[in-house]
Amino acid sequence: MTNKHTLTVTDNATGKSVELPVREGTHGPAAVDISTLYRDMGYFTYDPGFVSTGSCRSAITYIDGEQGVLLYRGYPIEQLAERSSFLEVAFLLLYGELPTHEQLNRFSGVITHHTMINESLKSFYRGFYHDAHPMAIMVGVVGSLSAFYHDSTDIRNPRHREVAAHRLIAKMPTIAAASHKHSVGTPFIYPKNELSYAGNFLRMMFSLPTEDYAVDPVAEKALDLIFILHADHEQNASTSTVRLAGSSGANPFACIASGIAALWGPAHGGANEAVLRMLAQIGEVKNIPSYLAKAKDKNDGFRLMGFGHRVYKNYDPRAKIIREMCHQVLAKLGDANDPMFELALRLEEVALKDDYFVERKLYPNVDFYSGLIYKALGIPTNMFTVMFAIARTVGWVAQWMEMIGEPNQKIGRPRQVYDGSPQRDYQPLEERRSAIIGATEGSFANGELRGTD
Ligand code: CMC
Repeated sequence: MTNKHTLTVTDNATGKSVELPVREGTHGPAAVDISTLYRDMGYFTYDPGFVSTGSCRSAITYIDGEQGVLLYRGYPIEQLAERSSFLEVAFLLLYGELPTHEQLNRFSGVITHHTMINESLKSFYRGFYHDAHPMAIMVGVVGSLSAFYHDSTDIRNPRHREVAAHRLIAKMPTIAAASHKHSVGTPFIYPKNELSYAGNFLRMMFSLPTEDYAVDPVAEKALDLIFILHADHEQNASTSTVRLAGSSGANPFACIASGIAALWGPAHGGANEAVLRMLAQIGEVKNIPSYLAKAKDKNDGFRLMGFGHRVYKNYDPRAKIIREMCHQVLAKLGDANDPMFELALRLEEVALKDDYFVERKLYPNVDFYSGLIYKALGIPTNMFTVMFAIARTVGWVAQWMEMIGEPNQKIGRPRQVYDGSPQRDYQPLEERRSAIIGATEGSFANGELRGTD
């Protein structure tokens, strides 16, 4: 970062001024460094949802939301999607440069040889009810990894950090496929070292010990591409969660589990699952206008899932690539005339001409088409967000490593504007009258749920 100029902030109440440095990165808007504002002026800043707040410096990923540009370590996503592989991108995100042939071979070998999970971990799965959501299993099992791999949890040791990163990237497909196998009640499949990252996952998902399984090259290529597109996306909710958890010194396995939890929500990674449910709900092209009207109605909770993005105010470049891939995958593996794909294309077309979406710059995002590809690959809907988590693990660990490596790394600790009760004195129980509206006739008068309910 370089300092270009300063911004003067004057308090109109007191006339006091401070000069704040304006810091510039390689690309994108400059940022006002307010780290001394509280010390010098006695004020915090207030920015719910971090709409205008940069939380860190980073050299990993860059997004230009106005132009629809996404760069990993400076390389445009379109070039990486067309020419590289997921493990090459993983190396790039972790180490900052594209690997040489030899480095890629070595890295692939390291990842491949970390793909098995400790046998005792299998008993964790047995503890989950058969209809547990796979994301619930992911949060639990990934969080538990720190109980198995103590030899890579010293976060001040760069080698430990690296080994933990490799383990997480390598084991995530194994853990994910096992969460699916648990839900369908078929045996877990061990990874096979000769297969690619995506191919290995497909085999662990779909093969049975009783039958031979050959990885379909179209499915393998499509999945590898989807993994590349989801690998990192700068300071989104889950990545920020990983950084915040990591800033306290928590071990990397715990931090990635916290990222998985944050990813699960429908406004973030859960959107791919929500898109398919929405398309099923809309059902037919003739129902599009009434659902668009619902999406525009502020009194209706319905939103067009897979549309809109905090940073992109243009077509999400990942959505463009996925849309194209969707045509190819459906032609080769699924139903080229899949009515859901037709419905998605039509919905996009209508929304992109609608004033509400145009004015708000709401375009399809990465999740709008990814679910249709997963569906064509035979991946069940409840696994869609898990797929996202597998790929994003690379970004999470790269961002976590970058943060821990910062010379002045501090615990993340946002402030707040408190607008609760002013200080008051404790009243004895017998003198109190309930001030909580509905407390007597409301939920807690009926008692809590008990037992296994
Ligand atoms: N459908 C209808 N209206 C929308 C939508 C939508 N999908 N997205 C935003 N808007 C409206 C919103 O109501 C608001 O209108 P107004 O200015 O009149 O109040 C305006 O557009 C700005 O929306 P916002 O909620 O202030 O924007 P945000 O940056 O806080 O939210 C978002 C971004 C992605 C959470 C939101 O667009 C959304 O909920 N989209 C649907 C969920 C989704 O597809 N999420 C995946 C995001 S990409 C992958 C990932 O990050 O995991």
